[in-house]
Formats: sequence, structure tokens, C-alpha cells
Amino acid sequence: MDINSLPAIVTGGSSGLGEATARHLASLGAKVTIFDLNAERGAIVAAEIKGHFEKVDVTNEANVTAALDNAEKKHGAARILINCAGIVVGSKTVGRDNIPHSLESFSQAININLIGTFNVIRLVSARMAGLEELNEDHERGVIINTASIAAMDGQIGQAAYAASKAGIVGLTLPVARDLSRFGIRVCTIAPGIFITPMMSSLTEEVQDALGAAVPFPSRMGKPEEYAQLAQQICENRMLNGEVIRLDGAIRLAPR
Ligand SMILES: NC(=O)c1ccc[n+]([C@@H]2O[C@H](COP(=O)([O-])OP(=O)(O)OC[C@H]3O[C@@H](n4cnc5c(N)ncnc54)[C@H](O)[C@@H]3O)[C@@H](O)[C@H]2O)c1
Repeated sequence: MDINSLPAIVTGGSSGLGEATARHLASLGAKVTIFDLNAERGAIVAAEIKGHFEKVDVTNEANVTAALDNAEKKHGAARILINCAGIVVGSKTVGRDNIPHSLESFSQAININLIGTFNVIRLVSARMAGLEELNEDHERGVIINTASIAAMDGQIGQAAYAASKAGIVGLTLPVARDLSRFGIRVCTIAPGIFITPMMSSLTEEVQDALGAAVPFPSRMGKPEEYAQLAQQICENRMLNGEVIRLDGAIRLAPR
């Protein structure tokens, strides 16, 4: 699809990969609404890209529905959904002094990363399904989710995070199949290690070491490179039902 002038929603668009994608889509002419919990930063980004911001908790049905109503009034119903909202949780299954993993933090990762992603997918796609077709392929829209290479190569301490991201990998094909009759494509990007606020809390030394572990190019990914792939998925109609690793060929070691 041609991104220019299409309404787009980017969850997690206040920061990192989502922010870069919101900026990139806006530069291509999309009318972008950011859904994020971080209202302060989200409002700044939205103003800079002449977009719109809605304070949203992606796990909350009423929140997402109200924000979709507002976004629709402002820009029209979304044709592009980018799901970037997410959190990182790190804890071993059995920790120091044989303490078991907190069930609360495991549930939180599943709730925000997996259930939050599916919540927005289902509510947005139900609206998209009723829109006019955009082109001769009867396309109505595209949905892009964000997993992680941890879904496949989860490291020590990543049981919760890896499980939440593997859930996103697992739903990609069945949701693409479900929505195929409406002309809505669904793909998932599984990023490797990207420089975002999630990562910038690490020291420069640790960041350099992470970058050096990437076969080629030996550095961390730039959020703009994620945004570039999101653009390609929007534009290339044969990309559907697929999970794409964006990782410079890194395969994560156990730790
Ligand atoms: N940075 C990486 O190296 C990397 C690698 C693999 C996968 N990812 C995934 O990419 C996505 C974006 O990560 P990032 O690095 O840009 O992180 P980030 O922390 O910079 O951005 C995440 C955004 O999600 C928002 N958010 C969190 N919970 C939310 C909720 N319940 N409702 C609405 N918004 C919420 C945060 O406020 C934040 O603005 C995440 O899903 C992350 O797991 C990141």
C-alpha cells in the first residue's frame, strides 16, 4: 500500500523503535497517532511529526476503544497498526537462595507484551475490516507486531520476556490467516539488539560488547532500521504471515 496520507497507529510510539517508526511514517505522509503510557514524551513526539497522541494502556479494552474513537475523529480509521509497546522483564526461573520466579512479573510480561498486542490487534482489525478496499488486491490494511529474537533464542533470565515474545510469533500466522478475508496483512518483526532507551541504561562498555557480538554489521541496530523494515512491510503486498528477524545474524548465547 502507498503509505502517503493513510491513518496509522503506533503503540509505544513515545520512545525507541515506536518513536522512530512514528517519525518515519509521518515523513512518508502518514497521519500518525501515538498510543503510549508516556504522555509527556508522546505529546512532544506527536507535535514534532504533526500527529496526534492518546494516553493508552494497551492492555485495557476501554482505554484502547476510547483512544481509537478519538484517533478516528482526528485522522480517520487506521490502515496501518504498528505494535511496539512492550516491557523487558529479567528473572531466573529459580533465583538466588532458590527463590522461585515471581508469578506477578511473569504475568506482567505476558499481559503487556502478548495480551496488550493482541488486544490492540483485535480492536483495530475489527474496524479495519469494515473499511473500503485500498487497491486492486482488495487490501484494507496492515498490522506489524514486535517480537524479539529472544522468542527463539531466549537467554538465561528471559523466561517471561521470551515467552511473551514467542506468543507474538505464534499468533502471527493464525491472525494473518483470520484477517486474510478482509485484505489485512499481518507481519512481525523480531529485532536483535537495538539502541533505544530500553538499552541506553547499559554502560557504553556493555553496549560495545553487545554490538561486537553481532556478526555483521558489528554494532547495535538503529531504530531507523526497524522503521525502514516497517515501511517495506507496509509497501510490499506479498509480505504476510511472516516473522522477520532483523538482527545482523546474531544468535543469542545462553547468557
Ligand atoms: N531495543 C531492543 O533491543 C529490542 C529488541 C527486541 C525487541 N524489542 C521490543 O521492541 C519494542 C519497543 O522497544 P524499545 O526498545 O523501543 O523500548 P522503549 O522502552 O524505548 O519503548 C517502549 C514504549 O512502550 C510503552 N509502553 C510500555 N507499556 C505500555 C502499555 N501497557 N501501554 C502503552 N504503552 C506502553 C513505553 O511507555 C515506551 O514508550 C518492545 O516490545 C521491545 O520488547 C526491543
